[in-house]
Amino acid sequence: MDQATSVVELRQYAQHWKDHHESIAFIPTMGNLHAGHLSLIEKGQSLCDRTICSIFVNPMQFGANEDFNHYPRTLEQDIKYLEAIGCDLVYLPTASELYPQGLEHITQIAVTDLTDNYEGEHRPGHFTGVATIVLKLFNIVKPDVSVFGKKDFQQYRVIQKMVDDLDLDVEIIGSETTREPSGLATSSRNQYLDTQQTTAAALIYQTLQDTARRIEEGERNYKKLEQQAFENLNQAGFNTDYFCICNSDKLQPASSEDKKLVILVTASLGKTRLLDNIEIDLW
Ligand code: PAF
Repeated sequence: MDQATSVVELRQYAQHWKDHHESIAFIPTMGNLHAGHLSLIEKGQSLCDRTICSIFVNPMQFGANEDFNHYPRTLEQDIKYLEAIGCDLVYLPTASELYPQGLEHITQIAVTDLTDNYEGEHRPGHFTGVATIVLKLFNIVKPDVSVFGKKDFQQYRVIQKMVDDLDLDVEIIGSETTREPSGLATSSRNQYLDTQQTTAAALIYQTLQDTARRIEEGERNYKKLEQQAFENLNQAGFNTDYFCICNSDKLQPASSEDKKLVILVTASLGKTRLLDNIEIDLW
């Protein structure tokens, strides 16, 4: 696997492959790779001739009260995983490479509407940081395809909207969430759960499935379902930020007319904040 650290090098690799009519899949990550990330790389490999993965803990998407410095960094292990899976190139920039003037005066990409609620509300500025770095990376690589995990459903939709609104020439692919046998969504944050919490955490997906089943069976009182799920999780020891039944295009509270839904949930166990969601198609 090749490695690049500068913008110029990354551009050169990508251009070389394009000159040879090879298509490029790009998977941006913040490292600490796990089965979920590797499934994104595999998806890219199934769609394109070349796969590029970036590993960059992006300071711009962390809030002042969020611990950028303690974000897990496991570069050696990440590189081994990427080599084993046959990724073609890993991009490992420094912050000064991507933000040579610092963060204070940089142009910001603020994706509208979809960022108002949920993670956008709980983490002000977060999606602006995500959209800005992703657009920068897209502009360097100019990939044909970029793969995002649907576990971060709001992020996936925000990137899709940015691409649509700004007429970017890249296809965004949403990749299904990988799960532990218990149903718990694979996440870097799972490593912070103790054994008891790991067992308890499975309740998030069970509650999502249970709520989805009741909607599929015809229940349309979404407020009641949300409240029941919220209370159910909190009684089991979670501190739930939100459990929202939304339409999957606008991410607004769903009405009984909506056919494509997604339930978004974020709940903490101790200090660990867990995100998950489930899609429902009522057509
Ligand atoms: O999902 C992530 O890991 C990050 O938000 C991303 C897309 C790599 C941007 O920094």
